[in-house]
Amino acid sequence: MQNKIVVIHFNISDRLRAHLNYGLESIPFEIYTGKETLHQRKVLIVCELNHLGYDMQLLQWLSEYIKKGNTFEGCTGAVIVKSDSELYTKSFAQDVILHCNANGMAFIGHSVVEIVSDYQNFITWKKIESLELEDICNKQCRHLIERLRDEIHLSCEHMLALHASSYKTSNTLGLWHLVKERLIESGLNPEEIHIENGTVVDCKGCKFQTCMYFGEHHSCFYGGVMVEEVLPAIEKSDVIFWVCPNYNDTVSANLLAVINRLTVLYRQMSFHNKHFYAVIVSGNSGSDSVAKQLIGALNINKGFFLPPQFTIMAIANEPLKVLELKDIRKRAEDMAKKISSFCHNN
Ligand SMILES: Cc1cc2nc3c(=O)[nH]c(=O)nc-3n(C[C@H](O)[C@H](O)[C@H](O)COP(=O)(O)O)c2cc1C
Repeated sequence: MQNKIVVIHFNISDRLRAHLNYGLESIPFEIYTGKETLHQRKVLIVCELNHLGYDMQLLQWLSEYIKKGNTFEGCTGAVIVKSDSELYTKSFAQDVILHCNANGMAFIGHSVVEIVSDYQNFITWKKIESLELEDICNKQCRHLIERLRDEIHLSCEHMLALHASSYKTSNTLGLWHLVKERLIESGLNPEEIHIENGTVVDCKGCKFQTCMYFGEHHSCFYGGVMVEEVLPAIEKSDVIFWVCPNYNDTVSANLLAVINRLTVLYRQMSFHNKHFYAVIVSGNSGSDSVAKQLIGALNINKGFFLPPQFTIMAIANEPLKVLELKDIRKRAEDMAKKISSFCHNN
């Protein structure tokens, strides 16, 4: 992979440009011309949002790039996104990441620096950094770009699948098992944990110090199966599969409780070298909403690495009907092949 970072931006403000320049100081980079195909590159996507929360020129370019059949094969990305209001940075970043990822781009963990009006999102950082908010923003941009430049070592030795579904009826679990069978054929061996309904109580939101205290003792306020089984399995894992039926366009409550309760482990270790995939099935529509929620929670917030084409999505509205969908076995096989080739190349 070429070591110069490619920076993609269109019409950005002087303020955003100043943060970007600070971040890029002493980093080899080139500005993207908007024309060439990006393969095997480190890519920084810089977005300036309008009052509705969109960077129209960036979307226009991305739409044409993908429509022409171009991919981002072998690319790894990160995003800086600025809004003049306090809204939209996360949702725009999730959208861009989903589209780029579906076309082959991986993203580093903690892949996004958001800049909202008056730098309000950096106020929490002031508790640990005695700097002006603008300077904290500069530091975050630089740190993001340095992490994008650096090599990441990923392993696939320990794989774990988490689900909360019924073996007899669930489409999502059925689809996961198609992928899993192919993974086993290629020599990979994912462990599986069933989160029984109601066994993982949602995060209580303890004070930072309390959460740290429990974390240091490999525990959590509520204890239970999460502490005894799930957190140790996640800690050991290099790759995690999230098996997510679409419930009201979100991850179901049982799995969301697992994500919320990850906080205690997150305070003890970095997830940058762990990556995750998702199997998502909707009865009607909305799998992309679930995918974006996972990108937000696990990649942007918790810092897991996002491998290329991280999700397989389908529609099925009768028990196990997913198994009858045209091409579903081929799609499951393709996903398993991509996972196994990504594992062998890293
Ligand atoms: C509580 C609940 C909420 C659901 N919400 C949606 C929804 O918002 N959109 C949708 O397309 N399907 C929705 N579904 C249908 C599931 O996504 C569908 O059954 C799909 O096959 C995945 O679920 P399964 O793995 O349990 O089969 C919902 C199902 C349940 C039980």
